[in-house]
Amino acid sequence: MALSLDTLVDARAGTVSRELFASQELFDLEQEHLFSRAWLFVGHESMVPGPDDYFVSRMGTDSVILTRDRQNQIQVLLNSCAHRGMKLCRQDQGNTRAFSCPYHGWTFTTDGKLSSIPGALTGVPGLNRHYFGELDTSAWGLRRVAKLVNFKGTIWATWDPDAPDFEEYLGDMKLYLDSALDHRDGSPGGSEMIAGVQKWRIGTNWKIIAENFNGDLYHDISHRSVDSIGIGPGGKGRRDATPQRTSISFRHFGHGVIGRAPYQDEEPYKPLFANHPEVEDYYRGLYDKREALLGGKVKVLHSVGGVFPNVAIHGRQPRTIGVFHPISPTETEMWRIFLVDKDAPQAVKDAHRHYYLRYSGPGGMTESDDTENWTYATQSCRGSIARRTPFNYQMGLGHAEPIPGLRGAVTTGEFTEENNRNYYKRWAQFVRGLSWAELMAASRAEQGA
Ligand code: FES
Repeated sequence: MALSLDTLVDARAGTVSRELFASQELFDLEQEHLFSRAWLFVGHESMVPGPDDYFVSRMGTDSVILTRDRQNQIQVLLNSCAHRGMKLCRQDQGNTRAFSCPYHGWTFTTDGKLSSIPGALTGVPGLNRHYFGELDTSAWGLRRVAKLVNFKGTIWATWDPDAPDFEEYLGDMKLYLDSALDHRDGSPGGSEMIAGVQKWRIGTNWKIIAENFNGDLYHDISHRSVDSIGIGPGGKGRRDATPQRTSISFRHFGHGVIGRAPYQDEEPYKPLFANHPEVEDYYRGLYDKREALLGGKVKVLHSVGGVFPNVAIHGRQPRTIGVFHPISPTETEMWRIFLVDKDAPQAVKDAHRHYYLRYSGPGGMTESDDTENWTYATQSCRGSIARRTPFNYQMGLGHAEPIPGLRGAVTTGEFTEENNRNYYKRWAQFVRGLSWAELMAASRAEQGA
């Protein structure tokens, strides 16, 4: 390649080249070495509640089908016909007994009665007449992901059979993903999606969004107008900001969090929904349940974080998952999925839906602030003069300290760029094409293990 990865990301100096946010060459390398190998978020099980339901998702620039077969197993298949590549599912979601190609009519199934192989090719028009019965249909099924996991309702997958298991990939970042997905009473799981997925496209590089959630608390100044207007959970006041925040960088695979170390004393109960008595009663009741269940210690309730490479989680309110699908070096399709306790009263779900909509998503006030920043930052990377000057990530450089109780995690305090220095270091290792063995060895070396 013409660009040198050795100089593009200089974690020691704390600089990152603007080429990362505009270069087609680097974008192609990301698809080849990162999105084809890392664990990626595909969807939520509630998107495919019944047999034959499907939902079209993305893994990098590839379109994939999330589906539930008639054996009730969730499958993830490449949404591209094996014959000439036609997109099999062109609608965002639906229900079908088979995936039938509109171009020449090949048919693929997930029905175990016809074939035990998900995505098997079971129908070829003219198989005997045109192909003389010689086409090896067993070799031309839909491509399946190599590994797939249902983690508390969220579906994650990788194309790489050599990838470590999902929980090994997460390391102690798992505690924070748990906290976004667990019931607010502290018991495991028990969350559902509110309404559908919000999807929109913005003119920015996907990594600029990822680093925002991975550990850029410094940008809070952008949301000052939101706080002065008052869009809090109860309809007024500040956002549900987390007190006592620490920026936590996981040297294991570049995950990052803004939140608290786990198993600390729970904060005193703070009423947030004073205008909604039924909602306030619900959360006060859950606070008491958590005290009984966890003895006043919270695992981790208050956090915003990033699961490497392109997922954001919000563990408090709004409780959401954000996904940043790369479309081109300067375009990203952004998704927001909103979560709520499955067994919450309808009044609670309604109050959250209204709060989420005014907070996040294409019409949400904080996301509108952020979108403007991300778009201008990306545009600057295309200027022939501006792109010669790298971005500065020097905040907290050389001050990282380990966090007791969290494997491989370090901090330099509340505001830092340590998380994103680490994020881009991992990004460079993937894009350089390091094997999983080399990536794991680098992770162990970083953690001093
Ligand atoms: Fe699908 Fe030809 S492209 S059958």
